[in-house]
Amino acid sequence: MSGRARPSADPPILIVEDRDSLRAMLRHALEAQGHTVVEARDQPEAEAALVATNPAVVLSDLRLTEGDGFGVLRAAKDHDPQLPVIVMTAFGSIQDAVAAMKEGALDFLAKPVDPDHLMLMVERALGQRRLATENMILKDELAQRRGAPHIVGDDAKLKQVSQSLHRAAATDTTVLLEGESGTGKELFARALHALSPRNDGPFVAINCAAIPETLLETELFGYEKGAFTGAGQRKPGKFELAHRGTLFLDEIGDLPLSLQPKILRALEEKRFERVGGTATLQVDVRVVAATNRNLKAAVAARQYREDLFFRLSVFPILIPPLRDRPGDIPMLARYFMEKFCRDLNKKPLALSPAAEEELCAYAWPGNVRELQNCIERAAILTEGETIHPRHLNLSFRGPTLAAPADEDGGPWSRIDLSGTLAEASRRTLLEVERRKIEQALTEAGGNHGRAAEILQIGYKTFTAKLREHRLE
Ligand SMILES: Nc1ncnc2c1ncn2[C@@H]1O[C@H](COP(=O)(O)OP(=O)(O)OP(=O)(O)O)[C@@H](O)[C@H]1O
Ligand SMILES: [Mg+2]
Repeated sequence: MSGRARPSADPPILIVEDRDSLRAMLRHALEAQGHTVVEARDQPEAEAALVATNPAVVLSDLRLTEGDGFGVLRAAKDHDPQLPVIVMTAFGSIQDAVAAMKEGALDFLAKPVDPDHLMLMVERALGQRRLATENMILKDELAQRRGAPHIVGDDAKLKQVSQSLHRAAATDTTVLLEGESGTGKELFARALHALSPRNDGPFVAINCAAIPETLLETELFGYEKGAFTGAGQRKPGKFELAHRGTLFLDEIGDLPLSLQPKILRALEEKRFERVGGTATLQVDVRVVAATNRNLKAAVAARQYREDLFFRLSVFPILIPPLRDRPGDIPMLARYFMEKFCRDLNKKPLALSPAAEEELCAYAWPGNVRELQNCIERAAILTEGETIHPRHLNLSFRGPTLAAPADEDGGPWSRIDLSGTLAEASRRTLLEVERRKIEQALTEAGGNHGRAAEILQIGYKTFTAKLREHRLE
């Protein structure tokens, strides 16, 4: 074997051929196409090259001075059963070629080798190899998705949630996950699916708040070819895609009133029509819905159909905000520290007692997601081996558990900008809204009507907001 391979990230092609002139010809042809090549003259050299270079494709003569192509083929398959091997045979020895293919060779080339034919075959072999790799990655991902996600925390309130989750998982009941933003609703929805007998089926998620009203119906129920301008061909909706699995309707509180009757029917009868279609489809789907809005309040405000609300809340599960289970904060922080250090290829970090104290004192309006973002930033910022309070940047943030927010909201530096634009904006707006409401309530001496007047909003809107912010 000669190790003249050019440095390249791609694995090389291994040529096994005892005749120097032919080997050189093959090498030039392949290198001209940008491939990296490793050469071997006989079976022992080929076996060593297999281990040393992990080739992507093997191109081997059947007759060699030491050993033979069949031996190379077996060694290659031994090394990696997915490794494509192309054998070269002398003109007239087609039987050998057939025998090699029976033993697992991908294809054969008759000598004298036609370079164009060789290239075609090599490209095909590389393509097959890529497919096999992708397939493996997908399978891994699938296995991971099927496995229940890791839920951290051992607060009694969270344990109760977990118990309810297990109980619901065994049934086909519709489950409603309620909780503030970032409490883990999606995580629990995935866990529910993974724990259920449907875990072999798909988990299909749709965020009802993220899709414009006009598109939501086609996303949910699909459409027929020609249903509207641009509907070039039939497209299945999420209900269909989730057949025999779980459909996760995220932010169900934002479902427009116009669509609510259709969803109700789909939930009750598991039947629907595609947009522009007449055939009624029947699916076997378990629905898990999630909301960070108080649906009851939305019903009271006539923004939500009562019948749909009842249908959705057959099995409600309330995920408590992080501030109500402060004991879980250090545990979650350490879990995220480990995770990010692994992701960032950093040595494991420790948490200083002062930092832990700060984490526990903070109110986490953005819940677990905010904590996760905070730890991620700290893990990046920490140069040493320990996370200290200065890495957490919490003293600039708003409310702490010990000392609730007062009027020194002040400069921009105090605003938590972690997370995505949407997250940061929503969190900040909610925070402003809550403070404004609290201020109005104080000013009005607790009188709801007066507070609503001060804020110049309707009484109903005001009480809905009180519930939303859990200020009742
Ligand atoms: N108990 C937990 N253990 C581990 N990770 C958690 C836990 N709770 C939440 N997380 C993580 O926190 C992040 C936010 O969770 P998730 O997206 O499920 O929240 P959500 O309630 O759906 O939020 P939103 O209402 O904003 O959509 C995710 O990365 C999730 O993996
Ligand atoms: Mg979510």
